[in-house]
Amino acid sequence: MWLYVACLIGLYYLFRWYRERQVVSNLRDKYVFITGCDSGFGNLLAKQLDLRGLRVLAACLTEKGAEQLRRETSDRVETVILDVTKTESITAAAQWVKERVGNKDVCTELMTKENLMKTMNINLFGVIEVTMSMLQMVKRARGRIVNVSSIMGRVAFCSVAYCCSKHGVEAFSDCLRLDVQPFGVKVCVVEPGYFKTNLTNVQKLQECSENSWNKGPVEVKESYGQEFFEKLLIRNKNSLQKCSTNLHLVTDCMEHALTSHYPRYRYSAGWDAQFFFIPLSYLPTVLSDYVWSANNPKPAHAV
Ligand SMILES: NC(=O)c1ccc[n+]([C@@H]2O[C@H](COP(=O)([O-])OP(=O)(O)OC[C@H]3O[C@@H](n4cnc5c(N)ncnc54)[C@H](OP(=O)(O)O)[C@@H]3O)[C@@H](O)[C@H]2O)c1
Repeated sequence: MWLYVACLIGLYYLFRWYRERQVVSNLRDKYVFITGCDSGFGNLLAKQLDLRGLRVLAACLTEKGAEQLRRETSDRVETVILDVTKTESITAAAQWVKERVGNKDVCTELMTKENLMKTMNINLFGVIEVTMSMLQMVKRARGRIVNVSSIMGRVAFCSVAYCCSKHGVEAFSDCLRLDVQPFGVKVCVVEPGYFKTNLTNVQKLQECSENSWNKGPVEVKESYGQEFFEKLLIRNKNSLQKCSTNLHLVTDCMEHALTSHYPRYRYSAGWDAQFFFIPLSYLPTVLSDYVWSANNPKPAHAV
């Protein structure tokens, strides 16, 4: 009996492995539009897809980032300046893409209240607006949309603003997938665990946390206490130092989502995502809360 079950599981994985190895034809004629190419995953993905021969349309926030990317890639990579929080910038970038792809195939990839709004603007509303501004082109080309969420879009254990934005990206991508499936458009989501990029830069995050703490209301700070905050900084620093440096684990998922005949709907990238956060997401909430908060410092006024 167990032998049959093991054989069936083996066959399922063999079938999935074979199916996922089928690559889209004429890759050299395909266009891919990627946002956030100054650094991190976007930057690495642009270089990776350039090596695969795809036509990369790379959107950078700064001219400096764009210039550097152009220096490091072939002339098949073209760059545009895009701030995903500005509608005019998105409209101009969409027009720029249109001029290049015409009717050809296009794929896109694609954090106090002030902080919440800033995060939501970049991570969620930016993703939605950029996607919607390109949607007609993608539909015409029966292209693909690859959105970068996070494992914090499946569970919620870190910054409230970040988790809300990433849960939003998951919800948006799921709704969109159902809407555009009838037009032959595929929507995939990549959920990276923790990786070493500018986003997870320890010093930058510490400065940001200190800034928020210093600006916080006195009664809130009293209820937590200075000791809590300092212990939290140390805990966060220790966790961030364990971030994976192998960004290819993420960009390989993105590449597969863009080039495979049978892409997955969801890609959990990184060992922490696959072997810690995903299993944790299936635990009863009382258990996952316990596991996650076991190492949390205690607030001064905790009951
Ligand atoms: N690193 C991780 O552990 C991790 C985990 C899960 C999910 N993610 C997600 O992966 C994506 C890429 O992040 P990353 O880790 O590669 O970080 P990153 O190195 O900071 O890359 C983010 C890119 O977006 C650009 N950017 C910032 N604000 C922008 C705006 N308003 N308009 C357009 N571009 C803007 C940045 O430009 P500048 O460099 O010029 O600021 C940078 O090129 C994000 O959605 C992030 O939430 C990252």
